[in-house]
Amino acid sequence: MKIAIPPVEIPPNGRPHPPAEDVLIDNFGRRITYLRLSVTDRCNLRCVYCMPEQGVPFLSREQILSFEEMERILRLLAGMGVNKVRITGGEPFVRKGLMDFLRRVHAIEGVQAIHITTNGVLTAPHVPELKRLGVKSINLSIDTLDRERFFQMTRRDELERVLACFHTILAHDIPLKINMVLMEGQNAEDIIPMSRLSRDYPVEVRYIEEMPFNGADGGRRKLFWNHKRILETLRNEYPGLYPLESEANSTSMNFRVPGHKGDLGIIAGFSRTFCGSCNRIRVTARGTLQTCLYGEGVLDLKSLLRGGATDEEIKNMFRQCTGQRFKDGWEAEKQRSQPFDVSQSMALIGG
Ligand code: GTP
Ligand code: 5AD
Ligand code: SF4
Repeated sequence: MKIAIPPVEIPPNGRPHPPAEDVLIDNFGRRITYLRLSVTDRCNLRCVYCMPEQGVPFLSREQILSFEEMERILRLLAGMGVNKVRITGGEPFVRKGLMDFLRRVHAIEGVQAIHITTNGVLTAPHVPELKRLGVKSINLSIDTLDRERFFQMTRRDELERVLACFHTILAHDIPLKINMVLMEGQNAEDIIPMSRLSRDYPVEVRYIEEMPFNGADGGRRKLFWNHKRILETLRNEYPGLYPLESEANSTSMNFRVPGHKGDLGIIAGFSRTFCGSCNRIRVTARGTLQTCLYGEGVLDLKSLLRGGATDEEIKNMFRQCTGQRFKDGWEAEKQRSQPFDVSQSMALIGG
């Protein structure tokens, strides 16, 4: 098969960064420019779609990557054209030392954009510093605006702190997206109330299909709230809703309601409609490289680093692994050696 190689961007000083031979391009011609880094598997909430009430067997300090190890991985990937990093968890802010780490990430040459996905419980005090660091956007999980249902879904009574965080982020003018995972019997009645956040504030509210990573039984296999049903529900409420041009590599299909300050988005994470332009790889809290959310770890980076591998050896492994990606999440799922089970909590993979 002939692979079309996308052009390497030439910065204003005329020097391509990185050298063309170092750019990561997968076996389907997709350029890898985005790393999702899960900095911890721990979390201060217990969202029903992510983990059971008792939590998942959390990893020990030894079992997760140190910040120094993550920094090295990121430096190497940045040298290979990865210019965007999204910090995820678990909940990133439960890990001590996160802000120091972010300052170091900020200094890595080639990392042009730091993004964060957070549940917002501990985040607000850090927002001014995130702004100073030039964090490009924050994705905040809010599944309902109803205190009782928030408690049911996250098993913690933290809605107030999360909403305070919402307002702090807005006050600091950091682009804000709201993630709402839709579950029949839990928060379907919140679809329209949540959409009003985009009426009143300049935020993007994204409705997310539930995926089979709940750390228990893999979730329902038959999805009720798929992207079509979500769109239909929004169209019924807002006949004037119209689609927006999607950003390249976006997971969300975006829409605008005339008169709203912000937008609405739908993430077909279960239906996997966006794999064709997937530019992302993941490093899990355990230090494994995943080249698809629905796949398994393809490289034990932690052992490689701790075993004394050189930079060149690690870069070679990145080249090899990205040269063997799956066409899409369906193919990745088919090739799994183990079904989605207890070990598959979104908290470990980072979404
Ligand atoms: P940006 O594109 O950087 O805005 O990130 P995002 O919106 O994809 O990130 P976020 O962490 O907010 O995730 C939103 C939802 O998209 C979560 O449910 C993620 O699990 C899901 N998601 C993110 N990346 C992928 C992916 O590659 N495949 C699938 N199926 N879902 C993804
Ligand atoms: N399905 C879909 N999205 C999920 N998230 C966590 N678990 C799931 C799941 N099973 C979302 C969180 C967070 C993002 C990282 O992933 O709501 O916003
Ligand atoms: Fe924590 Fe996010 Fe999982 Fe909820 S979805 S339990 S906030 S890691």
